[in-house]
Amino acid sequence: MHDIIQQLEEKRDQANLGGGQRRIDAQHSKGKLTARERIELFLDPGSFEEYDMFKEHRCNDFGMQEQTVASDGVVTGHGTVNGRLIFVFSQDFTVFGGSLSEAHAEKICKVMDHAMKVGAPVIGLNDSGGARIQEGVASLAGYAEVFQRNVMASGVVPQISMIMGPCAGGAVYSPAMTDFIFMVKDTSYMFVTGPDVVKTVTHEEVTQEELGGAVTHTSKSGVADLAFENDVEALLQLRRFIDFLPSSNREKPPVRPVQDDPNREELSLDTLIPDNPNKPYDMRELIEKVVDEGDFFELMPDYAGNILIGFGRMNGQTVGFVANQPMVLAGCLDIDSSKKAARFVRFCDAFNIPIVTFVDVPGFLPGTSQEYGGIIKHGAKLLYAYAEATVPKVTVITRKAYGGAYDVMSSKHLRGDVNYAWPSAEIAVMGPKGAVEIIFRNEIGDAEKIEARTEEYRQKFANPFIAGHRGFIDDVIRPHGTRRRICKSLSMLENKELENPWKKHGNIPL
Ligand code: HXC
Repeated sequence: MHDIIQQLEEKRDQANLGGGQRRIDAQHSKGKLTARERIELFLDPGSFEEYDMFKEHRCNDFGMQEQTVASDGVVTGHGTVNGRLIFVFSQDFTVFGGSLSEAHAEKICKVMDHAMKVGAPVIGLNDSGGARIQEGVASLAGYAEVFQRNVMASGVVPQISMIMGPCAGGAVYSPAMTDFIFMVKDTSYMFVTGPDVVKTVTHEEVTQEELGGAVTHTSKSGVADLAFENDVEALLQLRRFIDFLPSSNREKPPVRPVQDDPNREELSLDTLIPDNPNKPYDMRELIEKVVDEGDFFELMPDYAGNILIGFGRMNGQTVGFVANQPMVLAGCLDIDSSKKAARFVRFCDAFNIPIVTFVDVPGFLPGTSQEYGGIIKHGAKLLYAYAEATVPKVTVITRKAYGGAYDVMSSKHLRGDVNYAWPSAEIAVMGPKGAVEIIFRNEIGDAEKIEARTEEYRQKFANPFIAGHRGFIDDVIRPHGTRRRICKSLSMLENKELENPWKKHGNIPL
């Protein structure tokens, strides 16, 4: 027996070495941790239970039968993060570049299947050269098995991809179907075709970093939600992020004990809105002053800055914040911001996370580039997402809520549960100046008359009370009491029940 145990330990030691010390050193020299080191750092100490450590590929071509490595380039299993169950797969670049073989895919599928059965998140730590080239279609089949599970798991358990190395070819499509994509700066990249193919086909010369690095995907393409400085920061932030989420769609998000009084008043909010309605202010400041302990986990901060999205807690309970940002494009809704917020609203709705919306929106961004780019369809995504969401929805209009954008931003008419306005709110079809220039076009030459008309319009519509008279606004609240009012509303809505009519699925404008 002693000998057998000795053999087992030797086999484990061998598997733990992955592609060998030389390749581990190469991985470290790039500033990257190995697959196993990443899992160690990510999960609670000692909590990792590994599966399929001894699994090997079954390829006999190109001399592959001589090159088998236990675990076959991916470490899989489950463990806990702050005590909560998490499934994880971590690709091992030291073994055939972390490329995906049939056996490698089977390992990923196994943890995904378990996660679905027990209702726990799946985290992928991606570091892979894509399909295992020696395996051909067997590898492609493996990818498709993973893709199918990504789709089945969507909206059932949270799926997060942390890109920590190359992610090339079709390999990007599994992360693309997960809920969030995070990247590590300088060491990770994602693209469908690499720089060489790009050069052949389009004659563009571009580096890997420019084509698909973390900066590209967090600021230009919007493919990734966040980028971190290095592996350690990425994995620690991932732990913090997971804490906001429920384990599955069958659960509510975890409630954390807080020191922050839900009745806390924030007097500085009374002067947040400038006297001049055209002057911007920082909506992020409002979120940070209202949320528990100022802890706002912002997503996509460098993409479509005219809308803010992210998680925080109100009286210990996770909420998703969506807020127009007057500092960028005056807070207008455009194509990118609509897509950004729509996907976030849908995630919150799928996972029972209440949505708090702060509104200061002068409308949809006009112009040919927006129209040609399909703002009609993309703007409709956000409208659709809010309208179908059945989670608690609390809305606060701080200043402008003009036109269609008023409707879109979690208005009463889209089943907003509690809709507040600050006294500075202006709820109208458009701003006073634009309105008067249209309805009193024949008086345009007379500056005095136009000024009087503008003032008349402002008095009549540029305030929250007309909407209040109709019940579209539940109350006009003082800014300093915003936290208290939101916490009370969320507490009232805790047992909200609302169901959409049965359907196979809706047809969101894609
Ligand atoms: C098998 C691979 C591999 C792959 C890398 N390796 N990619 N083995 N299949 N896809 C091996 C290398 O042979 C090498 O083995 C080791 O991994 C490290 O690779 P290097 O090239 O030395 O590393 P580096 O210079 O850092 O370059 C990393 C890389 C490059 C950029 C990822 O390896 C690369 O371009 N790989 C091919 C990427 C690709 O085209 N994949 C297929 C995409 S198509 P040794 O033994 O020397 O350590 C696809 C289709 C999926 O994925 C479709 C699904 C729908």
